[in-house]
Amino acid sequence: MVAKNRFRLTGVECVRFAVENLDEACRFASDWGLTYVVSSDPEVKIFRAVDGSEVQILTADPTRSDRTPIGNPSGLCELVWGVEDRDALQALADELGKDRRAEFDAEGVLHSVDDLGINLGFRVAQRRPVPYDVTRYNAPGHAERINRRAPAYKAAKPREISHVAIGVDDAGQAVQFYIQRLGFIVSDRYANRGIFMRCSPTGNHHHVFFMNGKQPGTRFNHLAFKVRDIHEVIGGGQHLDSLGWKTFAGPGRHTISSACFWYFQSPFGGAWEYAADEDIVTPEWEPQDFAAIAHIFSEWTFGLEKSDGTLKGPISASKEKTL
Ligand SMILES: [Fe+2]
Repeated sequence: MVAKNRFRLTGVECVRFAVENLDEACRFASDWGLTYVVSSDPEVKIFRAVDGSEVQILTADPTRSDRTPIGNPSGLCELVWGVEDRDALQALADELGKDRRAEFDAEGVLHSVDDLGINLGFRVAQRRPVPYDVTRYNAPGHAERINRRAPAYKAAKPREISHVAIGVDDAGQAVQFYIQRLGFIVSDRYANRGIFMRCSPTGNHHHVFFMNGKQPGTRFNHLAFKVRDIHEVIGGGQHLDSLGWKTFAGPGRHTISSACFWYFQSPFGGAWEYAADEDIVTPEWEPQDFAAIAHIFSEWTFGLEKSDGTLKGPISASKEKTL
């Protein structure tokens, strides 16, 4: 097993999607609150969160492995991880090159693949936190916001990518490559049916979640973005709802990771999630196995009646049509 964070991984830098309907996907990314950035390659549409986390979108092309989504006609075609420096990139190339492709492109991005066939990229991290006025909360005996109104949001402006969730046949097996070769750490689990992992000992509760899917095969499940607070989760979700995008689940609050969430069906072959107030952990964090507890998806949820996505709740556009 490799040492914890031998490769100085920092998180998800970029998620590359290959989609059937490029225009619709770009409209969703823009409505989501990401900023369009002109790309040097006109076939690749780039959208960024505030810190530089990136989504790249291109038209699916099954004749090219780098433009073939996993599992669905639209979906993930590469997951790009950040590392702190070029030495770490080279160390990764040396490690992965032992038994699989590990090639640098002209821009210095290392491309490889995991044991399930998911294309992986690695690049020196470009994400940079941008300072902002953190929301203050008043609690009995703890006045933190004085003579100031609480923030309200007409739409979300996601700060950064949080994590990616991928449906697989056997999560317990899927995580082995990440643990043994890349030094990922298990943060929490549902036995071997769903495993939350982080790429670095300190930081986000999870950067990737492998879960046993209802259907056989490997496929993109969802991509989560951090927003500033629960008010932005709600404001962003209401904005998406008003534009006609359909809720997948939420708003609600996760039991694991503590995040407040709102998921929407997207043109990317899975859902996108707004998330706020996720757990931040250190090496002292003790992973827990939630397998003995059924339906641990949320502490509470509006709109989601069953875990199969059947919706019932006070969300206008989303209850018009069943999934
Ligand atoms: Fe999530």
